[in-house]
Amino acid sequence: MKKLVVGNWKMYGNSAMAKALAASVARKSGDFPEAGVVLCPPHVLLAQVGQWLAGAKAALGAQDCHSETEGAFTGDVSASMLKEAGCSYVIVGHSERRSAYCETDEMVRKKAKKAIKSGLCPIICVGETLEERVQGKAEEVVGRQVRGSIPDAAKATGDQKSNFVLAYEPVWAIGSGKIPTMDDIAQMHTYIVSVASKCVGCAPEVVAVLYGGSVKAANARDIMSVRGVAGVLVGGASLKEDEFCSIIAAVK
Ligand code: PGA
Repeated sequence: MKKLVVGNWKMYGNSAMAKALAASVARKSGDFPEAGVVLCPPHVLLAQVGQWLAGAKAALGAQDCHSETEGAFTGDVSASMLKEAGCSYVIVGHSERRSAYCETDEMVRKKAKKAIKSGLCPIICVGETLEERVQGKAEEVVGRQVRGSIPDAAKATGDQKSNFVLAYEPVWAIGSGKIPTMDDIAQMHTYIVSVASKCVGCAPEVVAVLYGGSVKAANARDIMSVRGVAGVLVGGASLKEDEFCSIIAAVK
């Protein structure tokens, strides 16, 4: 399986920065066919970034979608609109949305379902808070999120590839510069794969679980070498051209 390197720009960036970054990523992704690179800019930059990535071995993703096809939902964007804008992926259930917008597992599951039905691959995020980890509840919390957020539409197709991706992002590691130990990452990824494969009824090997939270060029290679890590979801470091390109190069 290719290692996925996903850049989540969050609410950062502008046209000039996006153009330079997309051009670099387009070049770099060609040099590393063993990486599946995905850029997730803010919605308003999707169409432009899609054009700048045209012909390159990098895909476009969005940071969220609504669970309905259309309707009176001011400010929201549907999965089919994202598909039409050129997206192949959409992040759902990011901890920033779970906390700032009170998104529940049920809401995340509905979004993931709509994404799959619209032809997108949802990147379903899960992760425990520091308090939950300190209390020894990390697996319990993450297990519940995984079971609650994976939709019935999730499956592994004949070519052994699943139509969804999970991302383990400990909330305390996001933007903090702190990461779990490699053993802790391995343990949690193994756990997530086992819970998810049971939920979906597929072989564990086809469940892809990314790691996210303070990934940078200096730790990307170590993290991606951990058993069960199918790639990385990168926030802050995905906004820096050199840093993100070095993370892509770390797949080797
Ligand atoms: P970070 O964010 O890489 O800045 O820690 C990761 C994320 O929120 O997806």
